Amino acid sequence: MCGIVGYVGWRNATPLILTGLQHLEYRGYDSAGIAVFKQNGDIKVSREVGKLARLQEKINTDPIEGTIGIGHTRWATHGVPSERNSHPHSSMDGSTVVVHNGIIENFLEIREELQAEGIEFASDTDTEVVVHLVERYLASGYNLTEATRRAALHLGGANAIVVMSTHEPDTLVTARLGNAGGVALGLGKDEMFIASDIPAILSHTRDMIFLENRQMATITANGFTIQTVDDALSVAPEIHSIPWDPVSAAKGEYRHFMQKEIFEQGRTLTDTIRGRIDFQTGEIALQNLEITEEEAKGLRRLVTVACGTSYYSGLVGKFVIEKLARLPVEVDYGSEYRYRDPILEKSDAVLAITQSGETVDTLAAMEAAQERGIRRWSIVNAIGSQAMRIADGYIAMHAGPEIGVASTKAYTASIVDQTLLGLYLGKQRGQLSDAELRRYAADLARLPDLVGKVLEDDHLYEELAGKLYRYENFLYLGRGINYPTALEGALKLKEISYIHAEGYPAGEMKHGPIALIDENMPVVAITLKDYVYDKMLSQVEQAKARGGIVIAVATQGDTLIAEKADHVIYIPETPEILSPVVTVIPLQLLAYHIAVWRGADVDQPRNLAKSVTVE
Ligand code: AGP
Repeated sequence: MCGIVGYVGWRNATPLILTGLQHLEYRGYDSAGIAVFKQNGDIKVSREVGKLARLQEKINTDPIEGTIGIGHTRWATHGVPSERNSHPHSSMDGSTVVVHNGIIENFLEIREELQAEGIEFASDTDTEVVVHLVERYLASGYNLTEATRRAALHLGGANAIVVMSTHEPDTLVTARLGNAGGVALGLGKDEMFIASDIPAILSHTRDMIFLENRQMATITANGFTIQTVDDALSVAPEIHSIPWDPVSAAKGEYRHFMQKEIFEQGRTLTDTIRGRIDFQTGEIALQNLEITEEEAKGLRRLVTVACGTSYYSGLVGKFVIEKLARLPVEVDYGSEYRYRDPILEKSDAVLAITQSGETVDTLAAMEAAQERGIRRWSIVNAIGSQAMRIADGYIAMHAGPEIGVASTKAYTASIVDQTLLGLYLGKQRGQLSDAELRRYAADLARLPDLVGKVLEDDHLYEELAGKLYRYENFLYLGRGINYPTALEGALKLKEISYIHAEGYPAGEMKHGPIALIDENMPVVAITLKDYVYDKMLSQVEQAKARGGIVIAVATQGDTLIAEKADHVIYIPETPEILSPVVTVIPLQLLAYHIAVWRGADVDQPRNLAKSVTVE
């Protein structure tokens, strides 16, 4: 997934675009580039492989000034990270440039067609076909809007493009084709912005429009027009006012976005609960997701679809919703579900969990539900994202912008949101008494404070990480409702420290993986004083008997575990159904500090991007 920024207005476009790209670098950082209209009417392009800082240095020595421009930070899909494959890409005469996010699935046939017309390609990317198609239609006499629209009609796959041309030096044209990440238009005073995501332009305006699939926009300093790509029909868009404050999209006094977002979880959990529970009556109000008692009682199954960390959140939600609402829950990877020709009944509901709201595999599952006429809900963080807009009902995570590639606060927020959904459905289905509702509400009210207590021990995790960061393999063991916690803890470690870590159901160890245990394999065992405590304790003993190093996540006051494990991380006594929210915090911090000890790039791990909007 890549980051795109565009500007047209009265200010120098270059610093605005570069600052915007800084807020989008989490989307990809293989290379970066900018194109700006100079005062003399020519387009100046500057591109650099590697991180944005290198492009910034290049521009510091060779400045570009102009009041209209586009920029791009790349996560390479077609064509290795190199200067020649960096965006923006130019037409042969340099009069037209394009930046692009997504994958043009039919680019080879378009490339051959264009080469047959005499076009010479300067890169190996799929993107370059766009600018040559636009140039073809400009040469046929169409204006920039129509030339871009006709070019877009050729493009297969999920894509977002922004085009600029000397043919119309005061105009940018952008199009959204499929679910390739968002296209946000920022409405300023005598200036307009385009961005892949809110944080890139939030400091300039809160008023934003989000293009729908197969819509396009033509923008100048004085305004915009929006039309459909397929029929050029005019569209009157909804203008959103974004409540996030710009500071929330900045690092502040923290060293990394991930660290900031871990420490924000007391507040973000408060925010996701706020206004949704009446703590006196236990009544749940989900604002944008409501069904009647009859509908709720008619539900026979919930199918949760998600990817990565959001998938693990769904696994926790299975325990929670089945317990609270007595509703069977199936959880599936988006990337698997979409190719399974799923069996869905009218009595089903499909729930997508997605922080970005733009994960293409998760969106595909939502589309599969729509094709079969099945209600589809989402739990989503990014305001105005596709998963928020196409759902029949949604629960906003209210976690604020999550910039660190490793998801943390969105994970805990989405677990609480599923708890709220479980309580809501449990009440509607007659499975929960008012007294039970009030008890769960009281438990939820304590959650931010419990999380805050764990965060106070951050120094302990930094110290422990200093003893563990040199190991190259880890095993994370959990059972029951904290089996998904083990999976998530392992993912956090592997994706930011590049250590191989595997989450495993503890009860399965004897069926093979215990062969792995020796003094080179630290084992993180979630051993809370809950219904599987005794089983977990014996797992700890088995690992120790084989020379393993055991790090136990345990309940405050449990002295027995301290006799068995090499290291113990204590968390406060927590209601079982909420324990995954509190238990994951030490695992987030341990992964963070191990990555820092290893000098890893915490916020921008290699090969990753924040939201995977391509398959
Ligand atoms: C989480 O740490 C990863 N960065 C990744 O697994 C992520 O959770 C996954 O790509 C799903 O993203 P989404 O929640 O935005 O759909």
